[in-house]
Amino acid sequence: MTSNVEAVFAAATPEELAASYDRWAPSYETDLSNQGGPREAVDLLVKYVAPSARVLDAGCGTGVVGGLLAERGFQHLEGLDLSTGMLDEARKKQCYSALHQQALGETLDFPDATFDAVTVVGVFVMGHAPSRSLHELIRITKPGGYIIFTLRPELYANSDFKPTMAALEQDGRWRLAEASDAFHGRFKAHPEVMLQVWVYQTT
Ligand SMILES: C[S@@+](CC[C@H](N)C(=O)[O-])C[C@H]1O[C@@H](n2cnc3c(N)ncnc32)[C@H](O)[C@@H]1O
Repeated sequence: MTSNVEAVFAAATPEELAASYDRWAPSYETDLSNQGGPREAVDLLVKYVAPSARVLDAGCGTGVVGGLLAERGFQHLEGLDLSTGMLDEARKKQCYSALHQQALGETLDFPDATFDAVTVVGVFVMGHAPSRSLHELIRITKPGGYIIFTLRPELYANSDFKPTMAALEQDGRWRLAEASDAFHGRFKAHPEVMLQVWVYQTT
């Protein structure tokens, strides 16, 4: 597992990152548990979002979050990811009605106000999707919809995520519904890694 984790964090370009995830895809779910990110995000999502909602799982990977949402009765799930290898694994779950190979941080190929909710679990991490992705995610979420994402507390505090999230609130683009307490992430080799789930409602 360590070499797969090291490879994704050593990637210098989105192409290298995608290739590292392509290689990791077949063993990703045996390396990581569902606890420590996906489960906690889904537990918060179901507090705010009805199972009839159209949900985009952004950075869906192999579809762990989609699988958990399907177990909770969600039937209108779509996934998006940089890595075709990860999307191939997600397709096997048969819980997504559509899968999209797109990159967060770029302009997304969806009309405004497409989704009732968006999840982003384990994707706002160093060298993955940048904070500017939030602008596009708000654009494609319906007003009154929800954006639910995980973030390491130190990344929130020491990167441009904190000012970006605050500016979006100040500009009236969204409002904070809930932020969870910090909990241990799911990297068995890195028990020191903590995460929080953030829930924002778009305006
Ligand atoms: C740690 S995995 C998390 C996958 C899934 N959400 C989960 O919780 O199991 C990170 C995923 O984000 C994808 N990813 C990284 N950067 C991305 C970007 N800029 N746009 C879209 N997907 C990205 C990777 O390909 C990988 O599938």
